[in-house]
Amino acid sequence: MPDADSVAEGKKYGLDTPQKTEGYFLKGSCHLDWGMQDRLSRVFSPKSGKTVMLAFDHGYIMGPTTGLERIDLTIVPLLEYADCIMCTRGVLRSVVPPTYNKPVSLRYSAGSTILNDLNNECIMDIEEAVRLNASLLAVMVAIGDKKFEGLTIRNLTETIDLGMRHGIPTLGVTAVGKELVRDARYLSMASRVCAENGAHVIKTYFCSEGFEKVTASVPVPIVIAGGKKLPEPDALKMAYMAIDQGAAGVDMGRNVCQAECPVSMLKAIRAVVHDGEKPEKAYEMYQTLKSESK
Ligand code: R5P
Repeated sequence: MPDADSVAEGKKYGLDTPQKTEGYFLKGSCHLDWGMQDRLSRVFSPKSGKTVMLAFDHGYIMGPTTGLERIDLTIVPLLEYADCIMCTRGVLRSVVPPTYNKPVSLRYSAGSTILNDLNNECIMDIEEAVRLNASLLAVMVAIGDKKFEGLTIRNLTETIDLGMRHGIPTLGVTAVGKELVRDARYLSMASRVCAENGAHVIKTYFCSEGFEKVTASVPVPIVIAGGKKLPEPDALKMAYMAIDQGAAGVDMGRNVCQAECPVSMLKAIRAVVHDGEKPEKAYEMYQTLKSESK
């Protein structure tokens, strides 16, 4: 039982010090509830405001992708260097050790593969995301897809509604159809549509011209996908330019797991994203780390 005297004689009211009202470090996120901000603070570093997410959810549409044939062998050793992991519930439960305690961007929509029409998707049960302690719900949104645009936007809005009930933010992932060009005009439209519909973070592609307009016109943080494997110096340059032009991080898969030395690549990307390291220096760092790891 508490001591009644000590309650009565309390003196530490700090009468000269007004209580601080903290802002929130992430763009467009200051009005979110505590649970949402707590989860976003696990995904994005409150110190740098950035994130290096590691994506290995490709198997849900592509099966055993190069570099991801054995996630236990290739990805698990990388986990400690990622700020957040993006994967399916199947791989999470079967391969990812919960002891790493990494925030999870859970692949939340699914329904088709590369053998068929992509984007014909449905979403998962929100209780499953809660059980798995998801920090983000990742939903594919196919703006411009003649067949499935509406379906994927409904998946997004439904996910946001469900996530809001449980304090879990949603990541809108902009899919790019075969016939659509990945230019600033398209990417800003696709990303903005996701944000307008309530997505808390957007994952899209980098474009070499006008990417700063994409980030400027979207009111929430943007992370870039890496896309197909590039030579390591080019991938580091892309990460640098994206951050320099307003991205809040990267969510890369193949450019990490298909690199000659994935751990060194992930560390070099971290230097670019969190410390603003120039791509040339980061590549030197990559080479040094790679040679040391042999
Ligand atoms: C795409 O559907 C998946 O969400 C991937 O996670 C995404 O494309 C990122 O991987 P990558 O950097 O290999 O493009």
